[in-house]
Amino acid sequence: MNKHFFASKLIEWYLRHKRDLPWRHTRNPYLIWLSEIILQQTRVKQGMPYYLAFAEKFPTVQDLAQADEREVLRLWQGLGYYARARNMHKTAKIVHEQHQGTFPETYSNLLTLKGIGPYTAAAIASFAFQEQVAVLDGNVFRVLSRLFGIDTDISSNEGKKQFTKLANELIPAENPDLFNQGIMEFGALLCTPVSPQCMFCPFNNECIANLTGRQEVLPVKAKK
Ligand code: ADE
Repeated sequence: MNKHFFASKLIEWYLRHKRDLPWRHTRNPYLIWLSEIILQQTRVKQGMPYYLAFAEKFPTVQDLAQADEREVLRLWQGLGYYARARNMHKTAKIVHEQHQGTFPETYSNLLTLKGIGPYTAAAIASFAFQEQVAVLDGNVFRVLSRLFGIDTDISSNEGKKQFTKLANELIPAENPDLFNQGIMEFGALLCTPVSPQCMFCPFNNECIANLTGRQEVLPVKAKK
């Protein structure tokens, strides 16, 4: 599939079908980071009230850094995976104390922050700073493996490398943020793990999985 065709169709689909979510109205790297930490192991519907509560109680990274850990954990109550809250608090302190309260503004500088991995660095760099760097999460693996008929194991290093390369070839210089939000939203709403909505898919004429009936076997993930 042509690269420009894919990016422009995807963004067009996204603008028409996206959910109106609060973190999609900001370019503030702190708020974007907060939303991505919450959404790492939590569904959008469950995470939303927590995002709103944290953004109100700790509107800046300074506010979060200076908060008492007990207060942070109390606000996190019910979300689970409490290490997330503790690590988030630690990273806020590092940004506050070692980076004068400003988040690094590039993918590679974001990656140097303890507590920020490739996914989160790409999300912040693209959503806050429009850097042309692709996010890779479960949605992205699924969408790309089906569209391009790639059956490399997504849990292998080779697979991660291959999908990272492909996603970074596909992401456009213009609107890389909409591309990244779009591919995740497309995986969440249409190209779903079970019963994807191929009837309504703008790529159903090009998608290798759809053309060969392999939607349910892609992506390939080796059993542990
Ligand atoms: N899941 C992880 N990041 C997300 C985002 N930015 N929007 C919606 N769902 C997400």
